[in-house]
Amino acid sequence: MKIVLFDVKSYDKKHFEAANKEFGYEITYYEPALNVHTAVMAKGSDVVCPFVNCTVDKEVIDILKECGVKLIAMRSAGFNNVDYNYALKNGIPVVRVPAYSPYAVAEHSFALLLALVRKLTHAYVRTREFNFSLSGLVGMDLHEKTIGIVGTGKIGRVAINIAKGFGMKVLAYDPYPADIAGVEFTDLDTLLRESDVVTLYCPLTKDNYHMINANTLEDMKNTVLLINTSRGALIDSEALLEALKEKKIGGAALDVYEEEAGIFYTDQSDEGIKDDVLARLISMPNVIITSHQGYLTEEALRAISQTTLKNIKDFEDGKELVNQVK
Ligand code: NAI
Repeated sequence: MKIVLFDVKSYDKKHFEAANKEFGYEITYYEPALNVHTAVMAKGSDVVCPFVNCTVDKEVIDILKECGVKLIAMRSAGFNNVDYNYALKNGIPVVRVPAYSPYAVAEHSFALLLALVRKLTHAYVRTREFNFSLSGLVGMDLHEKTIGIVGTGKIGRVAINIAKGFGMKVLAYDPYPADIAGVEFTDLDTLLRESDVVTLYCPLTKDNYHMINANTLEDMKNTVLLINTSRGALIDSEALLEALKEKKIGGAALDVYEEEAGIFYTDQSDEGIKDDVLARLISMPNVIITSHQGYLTEEALRAISQTTLKNIKDFEDGKELVNQVK
């Protein structure tokens, strides 16, 4: 099997090289993301491995088919960037890595929350300049505050356990509510209205695009802290920026951004960024943005490479594709 990885960084290559010792595949690593301009680079490959900011739409799938690609093996859990029905119609199944480390993402969301609530980014910059003043650094206890968990799948459940460790009251919303000790399931409106912290752990689907928008932001507490480590387009960024400017919410920490493709994972420090909404969000004192790094732990990278290659091996062997996106 000839495999081509798109949107590759040095840490991806390191882990795929290690995992491939067991499989011995011919792997080519490309830095550019997969899109309509780069798809032709897959020529002669059996499998393409895209990542979260690749575009795998109809046009790209047509090119991949012409190039002889037989399998799309996503290196991610999310698959909102792939037209998997169209791919399958064209005889190209799509597989993914449904679980690699829910701990990585859940822990990162709490790293963001703690940094936001205790103003760690400001404190860090101050002490580096030998400014030991505490003015403006007053935070808030998480203990006994209400956290609203949106999506109680693998990552959401890890987050629930972490929140319980802080002594928080846990409200949850999921279209498929589960029986989880110490968690009160409610509707989304109630969760948004009553929570001191709202944190998103659900996939992006056509039904929940901009689930956090001008209307829902209006209903939330004006001190609420909003955390998003799931997918950027769950939040209407322009509405979020307006709410922050009007002090309708207390702050936001985002690991994902709806227009992140082409910006996140790249160094733009020489040029600045053209996205005014993102630039303005970054400028707000009560906003923290990380560059879609929730998954980025050694454990998760190891699991991603191993599961991706195992998915490919199952395909090669004609076995059932247990991780197929359907
Ligand atoms: P999962 O499939 O285990 O759980 C998702 C849960 O969300 C399910 O319980 C589902 O019923 C629920 N859900 C679906 N639609 C919903 C809606 N409209 N409102 C509320 N809940 C809804 O997925 P997992 O592993 O927990 O991952 C969640 C998401 O996290 C992924 O879809 C992906 O977008 C994101 N993610 C982000 C990463 C990062 O690096 N920042 C890394 C990995 C995943």
